[in-house]
Amino acid sequence: MTDTIASRFVSERSQQFTQSIIREMTRQNALYGGINLAQGFPDYDPPEEIKEAAVRAIREGHNQYAITWGSPPLRLAIAEKAGWYNGITADADANVTVTCGATEAMMAAMMAVIDPGDEVIIFEPYYENYGPDTVVSGAKPVYVPLHAPDFTFDQDELRAAFSPKTKAIVINTPQNPTGKVFTRPELEFIADLCCEFDALAITDEIYEHILYDGHAHLSIASLPGMAERTITISGLSKTYSVTGWRIGWVIAPPEISEAVRRVHDFLTVGAPAPLQIAAVTALQIDRSYYAHLAETYREKRDLLLPILRAHGFGVFQPQGAYYLWTDITGITGMTGWEFSEYLVREIGVATVPGSGFYSHRELGARNVRFTFSKRPETLCAAAERLMKL
Ligand SMILES: Cc1ncc(COP(=O)(O)O)c(C=O)c1O
Repeated sequence: MTDTIASRFVSERSQQFTQSIIREMTRQNALYGGINLAQGFPDYDPPEEIKEAAVRAIREGHNQYAITWGSPPLRLAIAEKAGWYNGITADADANVTVTCGATEAMMAAMMAVIDPGDEVIIFEPYYENYGPDTVVSGAKPVYVPLHAPDFTFDQDELRAAFSPKTKAIVINTPQNPTGKVFTRPELEFIADLCCEFDALAITDEIYEHILYDGHAHLSIASLPGMAERTITISGLSKTYSVTGWRIGWVIAPPEISEAVRRVHDFLTVGAPAPLQIAAVTALQIDRSYYAHLAETYREKRDLLLPILRAHGFGVFQPQGAYYLWTDITGITGMTGWEFSEYLVREIGVATVPGSGFYSHRELGARNVRFTFSKRPETLCAAAERLMKL
C-alpha cells in the first residue's frame, strides 16, 4: 500500500486479506461485457410465489426492524425444515438465529466462539470467505488438503491437524469450489475427532439441496453426540435463487446461539424484515420443488461439463453445488490467474482463478472454476465464445 496519510490508518488486520477474487471477476466481467460464469448466482428469478410473497410483505407493512435474531414465523419455519430435511431437532427460540446470508452467519459464528490463539481447521481448496473470516475473528487457520481427483481427505493428515488448540473445523458440503459431497463415513470420522479433541464443527450447508447422481446430503449435527458441538449454517440464496435477499441462518446449541445473537445484533441488527416474512413462503414451498431444482442443475452441469472436457479442461464431475472445478494443464501453460484474465478479456467469459480458493495462491495455479448457475441460453452463449479458444 502506498504510504499516504490515510494509508497509515488502515488496520493491519484488514491488510491480511485481499478483496474477494470472485467478486473482482464479476467486476472485470462488467468491464469487458462478458458472460459471468464466475460468481455463483442465477441469471433468472425465483419462483413467482416467492417473489409475490416479498411484494405482499412490503405492502402489508413489514417494513421496520424485525426481532434482532429473526422474525418468529421464519425461525419456526427454519426449525421445522431442519427437522424434516436435516434430521436436526431445533427449537426456534433456543437454537435459531436469522442472519444477513450465510456470509454473516459464518462471520458471526466464528466471532461468537473464537478466542485469541484458537485454531480452526479448513479443508482446502475452500470457499474464499473462510480465510478473511478467520483473520477477522482472530483464529489461526490450519489447512487440510482435499486431494484430487475425488477430493477426499487423508485421515492421517486430518488427525495431525487437530490439537488441543483446535476450536473448530469448518465443513462445507456440498462443497464450493469442487462439488464434493462429504460421505457419512467421512463425517463420522470428523465427528469422532471433534469429540476426541473437544472441538466444534461449523458446517456451511448452503448447497444442501443441489445434489446429483444419487448423492445425499448429511448434516453432521444429526450424528450422535454432534448436536451439542455443531453450528449449522444455511440460507435462502442458492436453494431459492434469491442471492440478493441476504437471508441466512445459524442453528446452534442454546449457549452458542446466545453468543451468535449478541455478535449478530451489533454487526447488523437484523436481516431485511419483509424478506424474512417472504422467506417463510420459500421454506414452506411444495417439497417437490427440491428434486426439480437438483434436476434442473444436473441438466446445466451436463450441458457445460462435456464442452469443457472437449476443449481439454480436466474436470471433476461435481456431486453437488453448481461449480465445475477444472485443471487447465491440458490446454495452456498460463497460470489460472493469467488464463482467467485472458478468458474474460479475449473470449468474453468470466471464470475464477483457482488460486482464490487456496491459502498459498500457487497451489491453485493450474485451476479455474466455472459456475453453471445460469440459464441454458447463457451457457450455450458461453460455449459458443469458448469455441474461439
Ligand atoms: C460455500 C458458500 N457459503 C456461503 C455463500 C454465500 O451465501 P449467502 O448468499 O447466504 O451469504 C456462498 C456463495 O457463493 C458459498 O459458496
